[in-house]
Amino acid sequence: MAFTIAIDGPAAAGKGTIGRALAARFGFAHLDTGLLYRATGRRMLGGMDAVAAARALRAEDLDAEDLRSPEVALAASRVAAIPEVRQALLDFQRAFARRAGGAVLDGRDIGTVICPEAEVKLFVTASDAERARRRHLELLRAGHAVTLQEVAEDLRQRDARDSARATAPLRPAPDALLLDTSAMTIDEAVAAAAAEVSRVLAARQPAG
Ligand code: C5P
Repeated sequence: MAFTIAIDGPAAAGKGTIGRALAARFGFAHLDTGLLYRATGRRMLGGMDAVAAARALRAEDLDAEDLRSPEVALAASRVAAIPEVRQALLDFQRAFARRAGGAVLDGRDIGTVICPEAEVKLFVTASDAERARRRHLELLRAGHAVTLQEVAEDLRQRDARDSARATAPLRPAPDALLLDTSAMTIDEAVAAAAAEVSRVLAARQPAG
């Protein structure tokens, strides 16, 4: 059975945390699609052509250690605006979305471009200040010496680029459930998302 949960939203809104938790709860595979763009951006920083880098991407590139750095995040949002890069990463994501056994993908264009037929679509947001606070904590814990102001500026630049680009801009699918996690704990956000998945799964059960 194919069953896709598409989670989109701006950086640091909680998509990844919610995605991992849903995958664990429902026994689905999980793909953080941002890693595809980060791995491509990282290769570009190393001097490679972005399109060639996207075409040559391998699964093990997604495990590289430094993909979480702010420099790589910014490079990711630059390569993500190149239509040929997005095209090169399309088939892998589509196949992952429709694999047997269920899949959760989080990103920017999953419900709109990669898998418009997804059974569940969530658009996860949080206020700018809350997202900057969360990402700052995350980066400090990972050993990156950055200020809150730098993180806020990085998010602002990436969100602006992700929303303004011509190909697959960041926006909610018309049928996505909006989830503002600004005032929610992780558990509350996961519970709200899981309730939506359970509702859709229950509606698919044959009657009787
Ligand atoms: O989600 P994450 O912050 O890791 O993504 C890094 C960048 O990759 C984003 O700022 C965005 O430009 C790009 N991206 C995208 N489409 C996706 C996932 C990420 O354009 N599905």
